[in-house]
Amino acid sequence: MADEPLVLGIETSCDETGVGIVRGHTLLADAIASSVDEHARYGGVVPEVASRAHLEAMVPTIQRALKDAGVAASDLDGIAVTAGPGLAGALLVGVSAAKAYAYALGKPLYGVNHLASHICVDQLEHGALPEPTMALLVSGGHSSLLLAPDITSDVRPLGATIDDAAGEAFDKVARVLGLGFPGGPAIDRHAREGDPKAIAFPRGLTGGRDPVYDFSFSGLKTAVARWVEARRRDGQDVPIADVAASFQEAVVDVLTRKAVRACRDNGVDHLMIGGGVAANSRLRSLALERCEDAGIRLRVPRPGLCTDNGAMVAALGAEMVARGRASSTFDLPADSSLPVTEVSVPGHTHPDPHDQGPGHAHPHTHGGTHGGTHDHDHVHELSKDNLYG
Ligand code: KG4
Ligand code: ZN
Repeated sequence: MADEPLVLGIETSCDETGVGIVRGHTLLADAIASSVDEHARYGGVVPEVASRAHLEAMVPTIQRALKDAGVAASDLDGIAVTAGPGLAGALLVGVSAAKAYAYALGKPLYGVNHLASHICVDQLEHGALPEPTMALLVSGGHSSLLLAPDITSDVRPLGATIDDAAGEAFDKVARVLGLGFPGGPAIDRHAREGDPKAIAFPRGLTGGRDPVYDFSFSGLKTAVARWVEARRRDGQDVPIADVAASFQEAVVDVLTRKAVRACRDNGVDHLMIGGGVAANSRLRSLALERCEDAGIRLRVPRPGLCTDNGAMVAALGAEMVARGRASSTFDLPADSSLPVTEVSVPGHTHPDPHDQGPGHAHPHTHGGTHGGTHDHDHVHELSKDNLYG
């Protein structure tokens, strides 16, 4: 175990300041500071508030993680950080902190993709991911079916939502029901008391001619809002538990159906589910049921590792180190719209990847002589704030 890479991971893509430390597949620390309470009264994450909170929480959270793990910063083999996607200003705080620590400590820096991290985190729970891995990634900003032959370098989208992300639909429906923000956990709780068959809400993109692996949750969200409005207009009570359970059932029915189909079609005998919505209790139970029926092995991390955290970033960083992947240069940008196919971000001045083998670490990672040459790009990034990460 001592020769496995010891990596610290920093996550600041949304409202959680997460710092995790792992050694290989072993979780040593998972420190989190959340600004969720500061956003609750606005009904959604306010980017400027999140950035400020990250700035205040960053150093104490890093110190707490090192203390929890019982390791010295000088022992680390690398610093990994979410380079995107997410809120631009929030990402910049994490990326800047990671650069500062990596530079000061003389450690390699790894800018990684938030979405691939949501998949890789399962190595901390269930050991090495099979290759390829079939992953259903469901979060506040994304809903995708992904086939990953190599989680450090090759992630292929099979399908994705064409409108709202699954978590976004949970949050919007919770708002309609007056359940506060974030909505996923509240709907999950209320749904336990309700009847999932009470109301037949639509299952998006499940017709014979619809794309097999794509999702759509916007029509479902509107159907729920119309149903609730009609009840209120008639002066009737809204049965919150039944609406929550019926809505939730519509979401997880489609997610699990399409995920099992993707496994079958691609000859993959296991399914990984990641992202904040993977914390949903009904998604977990229905996925288990359907996977067992189809002879598919299900891998879902415990709920605390499904929602945003630093350990997932450290897990992907450790895998990059273990596989000798190139580290990032110190002009690593934060990319708010980083595509899921870009598992890691080399940095602006990184040499052409075709000029070097995958095991070739960048010679300047300890020197930090780069940076500053592409300042206009960083300014551009700052203007790309979006609401969901
Ligand atoms: O992955 P995540 O923590 O942040 C993003 O990268 O977006 O996902 C957050 C999303 C939110 O939309 C939240 O409502 C949803 O995950 N979520 C849940 C549950 N816990 C969190 N949705 C349904 N059921 C839950 N138990
Ligand atoms: Zn996330």
